[in-house]
Amino acid sequence: MILVTGGAGFIGANFVLDWLAQSDEAIVNLDKLTYAGNRENLASLSDHPGHLFVQGDIGDSALIDRLLKQHKPRAVLNFAAESHVDRSIHGPEDFIQTNIVGSFRLLESVRAHWNGLPADEKAAFRFLHVSTDEVYGSLGPGDAAFSEAHRYEPNSPYSASKAASDHLVRAYHHTYGLPVVTTNCSNNYGPYHFPEKLIPLMIVNALAGKPLPVYGDGMQVRDWLYVKDHCSAIRRVLEAGRVGETYNVGGWNEKPNIEIVHTVCQLLDELRPRADGRPYASQITHVADRPGHDRRYAIDARKLEQELGWRPAETFETGIRKTVAWYLEHEEWVRNVQSGAYQNWVQVNYAGRAA
Ligand code: NAD
Ligand code: TYD
Repeated sequence: MILVTGGAGFIGANFVLDWLAQSDEAIVNLDKLTYAGNRENLASLSDHPGHLFVQGDIGDSALIDRLLKQHKPRAVLNFAAESHVDRSIHGPEDFIQTNIVGSFRLLESVRAHWNGLPADEKAAFRFLHVSTDEVYGSLGPGDAAFSEAHRYEPNSPYSASKAASDHLVRAYHHTYGLPVVTTNCSNNYGPYHFPEKLIPLMIVNALAGKPLPVYGDGMQVRDWLYVKDHCSAIRRVLEAGRVGETYNVGGWNEKPNIEIVHTVCQLLDELRPRADGRPYASQITHVADRPGHDRRYAIDARKLEQELGWRPAETFETGIRKTVAWYLEHEEWVRNVQSGAYQNWVQVNYAGRAA
């Protein structure tokens, strides 16, 4: 079996669902259930014998030690993190605690467990750390995409905390021999994406008749990957990635934010036209920019493609259509995640950003 952390969040839940749909190998899913963790994402697994959900913190060493001893996973996959840049600007503390201290404690527990394994299990064991392209900083318009050799230049408390965790993972391999692999992926989108992030926020605001808040000029570029393609990359790296290596994950799909927002609006115009017949794009408003906003991310995924033969299954056109359709079909899920705490976040982040 494998131990997954953060498996009630956006990418973790997609990973758990895809894994159990394709494999008989069981999952222990440890998640703290912060505002971003949602058991409803895993509702279809309620009777699944291969899924054990445990609510808890990656920084709770006693709990992790007990889970490792009890279940003896052959791999630990660390998705758990505080993940939203804007939240890291308003309150970095949780990012330091989970992404740095939590990852450190998890590594310590895993190291102790791994040290006690018989030689064959020790050799086969993997710690897979799920990270982001944001650790590499921001690119200029003509710069080459991030390769694995790009220097770390994180610019937000979020990316700095992820960079710190990547460094700890690396150090646990070099110092203690722990068999680690790290993936650094570009921006994901797809089902179960919490509507604080760009694409789901635009979908739910558009449908609610609210403004579509584009930060600054909207010409910041992100490299978008459908979440299930990220999950297939993680499975492939777990299966065949070389120990101690990092693999960049991306679909060669750079787009400025404003183009993403227009694409979402056009799909909604087609699939759920506004009652007054006006285009959803009429709801777009430019608001104050994010402090320290990275201008451009782009991933060079050649190492993963050439070494491990991974390819994304979706183009942006097919993935974004599926995503918009998913949100239209899951209005109850959207209603349920827009709790009081969500409304409070919207107030904190957008109230001070007059158009
Ligand atoms: P998310 O915020 O949707 O989910 C994070 C999950 O981790 C939640 O279920 C939350 O409850 C859980 N969690 C938070 N703190 C925890 C703790 N201390 N102990 C246990 N569980 C805890 O995030 P996501 O978008 O699914 O991202 C998952 C991982 O992938 C993160 O490590 C993130 O840095 C990385 N990543 C995300 C993207 C993206 O575009 N979303 C891209 C590249 C990499
Ligand atoms: P986000 O989904 O927060 O991902 P990240 O910051 O990790 O790339 O944001 C994606 C891009 O969209 C980023 O350039 C910021 C921008 N953005 C907006 O323009 N408006 C918004 O309301 C949000 C949440 C993001």
